[in-house]
Amino acid sequence: MIVLASDHAGVALKAEIIRLLEARGTAFRDLGPADDASVDYPQYAHLLAGEILSGRADRGVLICGTGIGMSMAANRHGGIRAAVCHDAYTAEMARRHNDANVLCMGGRVVGAGGALQIVEVFLGTDFEGGRHQRRVGLIELPPDRQEER
Ligand code: RB5
Repeated sequence: MIVLASDHAGVALKAEIIRLLEARGTAFRDLGPADDASVDYPQYAHLLAGEILSGRADRGVLICGTGIGMSMAANRHGGIRAAVCHDAYTAEMARRHNDANVLCMGGRVVGAGGALQIVEVFLGTDFEGGRHQRRVGLIELPPDRQEER
């Protein structure tokens, strides 16, 4: 299950991504908003993070103007690894090396074609594990506890 959310600056691109998910038969839920009235992006980032951390969704897609504010808010939650991706390469590496579970994009940065490619790569790429598993684990530990791993 994929969950999506945006703010007003990302709602148009989110609609394109919803069309893609419908076409590929991917189960998803849109957490809002439904229109481009101004909203505060952190509220949607926190809402989406909760869906993933509760196990109700596997991965998420967050879209604001740049993707940056959404990623900052989502990454405040332990267990959320939100990556701002601008192209297929960053999306691929966010999955292969970082095991990103939330994709963030900028509706004012990437065009619809690029964004759809990014989503395809993000959903279709597996985490490599191995040495990257240890590094991803270290993300969750503050510096004074890193010898525990
Ligand atoms: C809204 O104008 C804009 O600040 C927001 O969409 C996002 O880009 C913040 O990071």
